[in-house]
Amino acid sequence: RKRIVSGVQPTGSIHLGNYLGAIKNWISLQNDYETLFFIVDLHAITLPYEAQQLPKATRATAAIYLACGVDTSKASVFVQSHVPAHAELMWMLSSATPIGWLNKMIQFKEKSHKMGDENVGVGLLTYPVLMASDILLYQSDLVPVGEDQKQHMELTRDLAERVNYLYGGKKWKKMGGRGGAIFKVPEPLIPPAGARVMSLTDGLSKMSKSAPSDQSRINLLDTKDVIVNKIRRCKTDSFPGLDFDNRDRPECNNLLSVYQLVAGKTKQEVTQECQDMNWGTFKPLLTDALIDHLHPIQDTVESSKRKMVSSLREPGCGCSIITHFGVPVLSSLLKVRYEEIMSDSAYLDRVLVEGASKAADIAGATLNNVRQAMGFLPR
Ligand code: TYM
Repeated sequence: RKRIVSGVQPTGSIHLGNYLGAIKNWISLQNDYETLFFIVDLHAITLPYEAQQLPKATRATAAIYLACGVDTSKASVFVQSHVPAHAELMWMLSSATPIGWLNKMIQFKEKSHKMGDENVGVGLLTYPVLMASDILLYQSDLVPVGEDQKQHMELTRDLAERVNYLYGGKKWKKMGGRGGAIFKVPEPLIPPAGARVMSLTDGLSKMSKSAPSDQSRINLLDTKDVIVNKIRRCKTDSFPGLDFDNRDRPECNNLLSVYQLVAGKTKQEVTQECQDMNWGTFKPLLTDALIDHLHPIQDTVESSKRKMVSSLREPGCGCSIITHFGVPVLSSLLKVRYEEIMSDSAYLDRVLVEGASKAADIAGATLNNVRQAMGFLPR
C-alpha cells in the first residue's frame, strides 16, 4: 500500500484552514493508504513560544486529530520529537542542502521579516530540512497539505533527488548497501478546494494561527455563539449577487468556497444556489452550515455522549465518521470527542506511544540506509 504522512504544528489553535486544507483530507485517505500523522513539536519551537504551554498544545493537537476522525486502528498518530530519527536525519540532510535553497523559501522570508534579524533562530531557516526529514524518513508517496506548503514540498523532492544522486545508486552499493534510491520522491496532495482558506477580515491574507486578531479565523473549537459573531462581522463587499473567482471579490470567493466544503456541495450547486443572494441571506446560511459541520446538534450529543465515552477507550472505535446527508460531518461530536479525549490522558498517551513505536520501526530502516550510504561507521 502507498504511504501517506502529514502533520500540524502545535501552535495556537487549529482553525478551519488547517482542517479544510489538510486534516479533513487525511480522514478520507486513511482507508486506502498506510497513514502516519504527527504533531510537529520540533517545528513549533522555531518561532518564539511558551515552553510551559507546549505540552498541552501538543496533546490538544493530537486530540483534535482523533476528534476529527483520525482512526488509530488505521493511522499511526505520534509526536515528532518522540521519534529521534527525525532530528538525526535532519542533521544529515542539512549538510546536503544548499543554503540558497533555504534563503528562497517564502515562509522563511515572511516570518523572519516580521521578527527582525537578531531574533531569527537558525531553526527557522532550516525548518524545511526538518520537514523533508519528516517525509523522507517514511519513504512517503503522498503528502496531503494546504497550498502554503507547496514550496516546502518542492524542496523536499529536490533534496530527495540530490541525496539519491550524491550518495545512492552504485556508490551506495560500493559501501556495502543494496544500491538504488535512498529516498522515494514524494508528491504533494493539495485539494482542489480548501487549499487556501483566507482570513475573515481580509480576503487577500491566508487564515492563520498567528494572526493577532481571533476574529480573522474560525477555530475548530469555537462555540456556536462565537461562530455566529465572527460570520456576522466578517468582511464582505457591496457588489450585487455572489460569485466565485471574481478577482475583485476575494472575500466572496473565500466564503463561497468555505460554504461549498462545509455544506458538502459542488461549486456548481453553490453557484446556482447563491448567485442571486445578498450577504444578508448568505451569511446565516453559511453560519448554519458551519455550525452543523463543527458543532453538536444537542440531541445527538446527549444521546451519543455516553456511547462515545466508552467507545473512545477502545482503540479504533472512537472515530467512526458520522454522515449528514451523505457528507462526513466533522462531526456533530467534535467538541464532545475532543473534551473526552483530552480528559482521558491514559488513552491519549497510549495512542501516542503506539504511534511512535510503529513510526520508529519504519524510520529506523531508512536511517540505517542513510547512515551506511553516507559512510558512518556501523554501531
Ligand atoms: P501548519 O501547522 O502551518 O499547518 C498545518 C496544515 O494546514 C494547512 N493550512 C492551510 N490550508 C488551507 N488554508 C489555510 N489558511 C491554511 N493554513 C494552514 C497547511 O498547509 C498544513 O497542511 N510545515 C507544516 C507542518 C509539517 C508537515 C511536515 C506537513 C511539518 N512537517 C511533514 C506535512 C508533512 C506546517 O507548518 O503546517
